[in-house]
Amino acid sequence: MKNMSRNGRKGSSVSRIGVYAEKMASDRVYRLRWTATFLLVAVASLLLAGTWWVRDGRSSFRIDSPSPRTFYAHSRMRIVDEKATRALREQRMSDIGGVLVRDRRFPEEVRSKLASIERGEYRAVLPESLAGILESLPEISARRIATVSSRVAISMLSSPTAEGSPAETIWKGLEASDLSIPEQNLAFQIIDHVMERAMVMDPEVTSEVRALAASEIEPVERVLAVGDVIVREGETVSDELALILRAQGYPELSFPWKTLAFVVLGVVLWASWMWWYSVRREFNFDPLEWGFIITILIAGWVAMFASAFLGENGLGVISLAGWAYLGLPGSFAFHLVLWGGIIGSVIALGSSTVDLMLSVFASVITASMGYILMRKITSRLDLVRKMFLLGFFLAFAAFFIGWGLYLPSDRSILVTQTVSSFAWVVVTLVALPLWERFFDILTPIRLVDLTHPSHPLLKRLQIETPGTYHHSLMVGTLAEAAAEKLKMNPLLVKAGASFHDVGKLRRPQFFVENQQTGHNPHDELAPTLSALIIISHVREGLETARQYGIPKKIRVFIKEHHGTTCLHYFYKKALSLDPDLPMEQFCYPGDRPRSRESAVLMLADSVEAAVRAAASAITDSRELEELVKEVIDTKIAESQLSDVPLTLQDLTRIKTAFLETLKHAYHTRKIAPIGTAEVARATMEASG
Ligand SMILES: [Fe+2]
Ligand SMILES: [Fe+2]
Repeated sequence: MKNMSRNGRKGSSVSRIGVYAEKMASDRVYRLRWTATFLLVAVASLLLAGTWWVRDGRSSFRIDSPSPRTFYAHSRMRIVDEKATRALREQRMSDIGGVLVRDRRFPEEVRSKLASIERGEYRAVLPESLAGILESLPEISARRIATVSSRVAISMLSSPTAEGSPAETIWKGLEASDLSIPEQNLAFQIIDHVMERAMVMDPEVTSEVRALAASEIEPVERVLAVGDVIVREGETVSDELALILRAQGYPELSFPWKTLAFVVLGVVLWASWMWWYSVRREFNFDPLEWGFIITILIAGWVAMFASAFLGENGLGVISLAGWAYLGLPGSFAFHLVLWGGIIGSVIALGSSTVDLMLSVFASVITASMGYILMRKITSRLDLVRKMFLLGFFLAFAAFFIGWGLYLPSDRSILVTQTVSSFAWVVVTLVALPLWERFFDILTPIRLVDLTHPSHPLLKRLQIETPGTYHHSLMVGTLAEAAAEKLKMNPLLVKAGASFHDVGKLRRPQFFVENQQTGHNPHDELAPTLSALIIISHVREGLETARQYGIPKKIRVFIKEHHGTTCLHYFYKKALSLDPDLPMEQFCYPGDRPRSRESAVLMLADSVEAAVRAAASAITDSRELEELVKEVIDTKIAESQLSDVPLTLQDLTRIKTAFLETLKHAYHTRKIAPIGTAEVARATMEASG
């Protein structure tokens, strides 16, 4: 009721400011979201181009260009030796001099000339010199030469196509006759003269016959053994060589535009999905945390790029997993490692199908194993042990998958992979404090350090305000038990409990747990001043925590642990002196708890104070249960938990956890009796 009247008084100007602030915040969030997506797309594209340049740009071949390096055969293959085949075919074609065909215009003229020669009328047909030689020979010899010449010429007329030149055909016919060599010479000159116009070489038929002869030559095959040179550096890459290189798995030089489009679209869709997931699960990451997420993602991709360059496919994903699981909620980290790892694999190994597959396997295994191993880290040693276990498991899985797929795998590869993954684990652990420092990230290790009694601020609490220190320890135990039940981060709640009342260091004696002498300074103060001092411990706590470098996420517990509750005992006391006093003066400024962790701490703080105040009145567990229930119900009635998504089931679990812890505590310690209910209330409020 009080809260409602306070809010109502501020009226419509408050709601206008609220709407404006909300719009500003949503604009900022929108800008942040698209800036982050653009940054991721830019880095992914750059890394993809880098991968292409490093892996393919300087070593891939291009048709009709000099080869950038000597390419060797990876596997045995049978290839056609085009060069040798071509040489053999050319040889065969050149063997065919030309194809003679009968010129249809002249056969009758040739026949009549041949008839004249056979009749001995040499001078009518042959040139004078040739006719003279024939006439000078004995009659019988001249007749035999004329007859053979006529026969050979007629056979050439009747079968015009033949291999070789016309001269070769004539010589073949003459060699088969019984003429002597000089007679064959004379006969050749006679035929040559007579046939001069009767036989012509047909280029078309010649080329057809040559092509037919060439096609009869079988291609020359040779076997390419592993390690044989396919093409030497500087040698021009022909179409045939390109075919062999492709068959051997060598990439051709061409920018992977399709992969780039896939990566850009994949990153945009995935980033949007991750954003939606974080809103749906109410992780409420602030800009610094988004900065951390983007940074480890980019650093993880660079690690994967480097590991691909070193030949250890996908091992770089260990770093992304380590940082994500140590700095982010488990389910968000799982999605970040899984999909971030798969996109990283495409970026770093897109050109090689087998390597890409191995890297994707590595991402899936790391995301799953990381989720199982890294959920609960209890100490620095525990972290180191689990990180190395993750590294070894990944190295072994990579080796086993390679072995199963018949890839080169022997014991030395297992050793190399293990050493490499351990190296990535070291990189991860070294970078961790940097992330903690730059992004104020709360890793389990940082939380362990913060809650250790040797922390300087906790040491001050122990010495200067032992009552408050003890109260903080008890609140921590209660809150931790409830956090365990609600599957929240118990270390975070415990750290919040440790520091929630550090504001009491300024004036410890004004808080009841530190009044060991029995003297209560509030007895001598006006109730308004008492309230002011008590309420100030929140603001002073925030100042002290900032001075000691306590992380923002822990400082939130200090700010919210009293919400906007009011000091009713002091208000009532003040009203008896001045009936017109406003209530605001006796209420904490807030904020009300905005996270489940903060709500649990508020309840644990109030329960601890109430139980301590009413300790003497509690005689059995039922009364204890009633008291715890009353404290929780009061907080709900005062709307202190209305900004937190706690279900009734959650509240029941919190109550159960508190009761179990308190019953154990009651068996081990005895709390001094306090007195009447009114005094108990005063004690509880003065506990802060
Ligand atoms: Fe407290
Ligand atoms: Fe407090």
